[in-house]
Amino acid sequence: MPEKKNIVITGATSGIGKALCEHFAKDNIVYAGYRNEKLVEGLKSISHNIVPFYIDFKQIDSIAFAANFIKVKAEHVDCLINVAGCVVAGAIENIDIKKIKEQFEVNTFGHLDFTQRLLPFLDGGRIINISSKSSFGIFPFVSPYCASKRALDIMFNSLLLETHRDIKVISVKPGVIATPLWGKSIEENKENIDAAIGFEKELDYMLDSARKNETYGLDVMEVVKVVEEAAENPNPKSSYTVGWDAKLAEIVSKLPQDWINKLIKAGMKAKFNRAKQNRLKEQAVSENTQAV
Ligand SMILES: NC(=O)c1ccc[n+]([C@@H]2O[C@H](COP(=O)([O-])OP(=O)(O)OC[C@H]3O[C@@H](n4cnc5c(N)ncnc54)[C@H](OP(=O)(O)O)[C@@H]3O)[C@@H](O)[C@H]2O)c1
Repeated sequence: MPEKKNIVITGATSGIGKALCEHFAKDNIVYAGYRNEKLVEGLKSISHNIVPFYIDFKQIDSIAFAANFIKVKAEHVDCLINVAGCVVAGAIENIDIKKIKEQFEVNTFGHLDFTQRLLPFLDGGRIINISSKSSFGIFPFVSPYCASKRALDIMFNSLLLETHRDIKVISVKPGVIATPLWGKSIEENKENIDAAIGFEKELDYMLDSARKNETYGLDVMEVVKVVEEAAENPNPKSSYTVGWDAKLAEIVSKLPQDWINKLIKAGMKAKFNRAKQNRLKEQAVSENTQAV
C-alpha cells in the first residue's frame, strides 16, 4: 500500500472543500479547515483520516495558529488545497469599501498568509488553489469577487515563477458549481443589494441566477476530478478550467477589452430585459389567478 500523504484543505465544511475531503481522506491524512465549531463532528464523521483545524480568514490570528498546528502534527505537507471562499457582490458604485477589503482578506490575503507559513513544509509538494472562472475578470456586479480571485492567481503564479523550492502551484478555475455558496452569497450580500439603488433590475437578475445556480450548476465531483488530476499528474498544468462556462470565460478574456465590454453589455441588456419580461409575465399570471 502506498504511504498516506498529508493533505491540507481549507473551507472543508461545505461544497467543494467537503467533497475534496471525502475523496482524499479515503487514502490520505486530511487536515480539514473549519470556521464553525458546530461543523467539526460532521468533518470527523467523514473518516478517521480527517484531522480538523480551526481557521477563519476574518480572524487573522487564527491563520498563524492553524499553520503552527499543522507544522506540529504533520512535519511535511504533500498537498495544500486552498478552498475557503466567499462572494462580495453588488454595484461597485456603492459597495462598502470595508466589505471589499474583507473579500480580499478571505479569498486572497488569507490564503497567501497561510501558504507562506506552510511553504517550508511543502518542498516536493504542490499547492492547488480553487480559484474561479471569475478570475478571468469579465463579470460585472461581482467585481470584488473577480478581483480577489485574479489577485490570488497572479500572486500564486508569481510564487511558481520565483520560488527556489520544489513546489508545483496550480490554479483550478471552476465555472458554476451547485454548492451552498450561492445561497450564502444572497444572505451575505443583503446590505449591498439594498444599497444598489437604481440597479434593481440587474440585481434581481443576479439573485435569480444565484438561486438557480445552487441547483443547476455542475456537480461538485467535476471539480474533484480536476483537482485529483492536478494533485496526481507528475506534470500538472498551471491552470485548469472546470465546465464550458469557465472555458468560454477564458476565451472571451483574451479579446481586446473594448470587444469584451461590448459583448458583456449586449449580453447584460438581453438577459436583464428577458428577466424583466419573465417577471412581468409572472406578475400577470399571479394577478389573473387572484382575480379568479
Ligand atoms: N460554487 C461555485 O460555483 C464556485 C465556482 C468557482 C469557484 N468557487 C470557489 O470554490 C471555493 C469553495 O466554494 P463552494 O462553492 O464550495 O462554497 P461553500 O459551499 O460555501 O464552501 C465555502 C467554504 O469556505 C468556508 N469559508 C467561508 N468563509 C470563510 C472564512 N472567512 N474563513 C474560513 N473559511 C471560510 C466555508 O465555511 P462554512 O461552512 O462555515 O460556511 C466553507 O467551508 C470558493 O473559494 C469559491 O470561490 C465556487
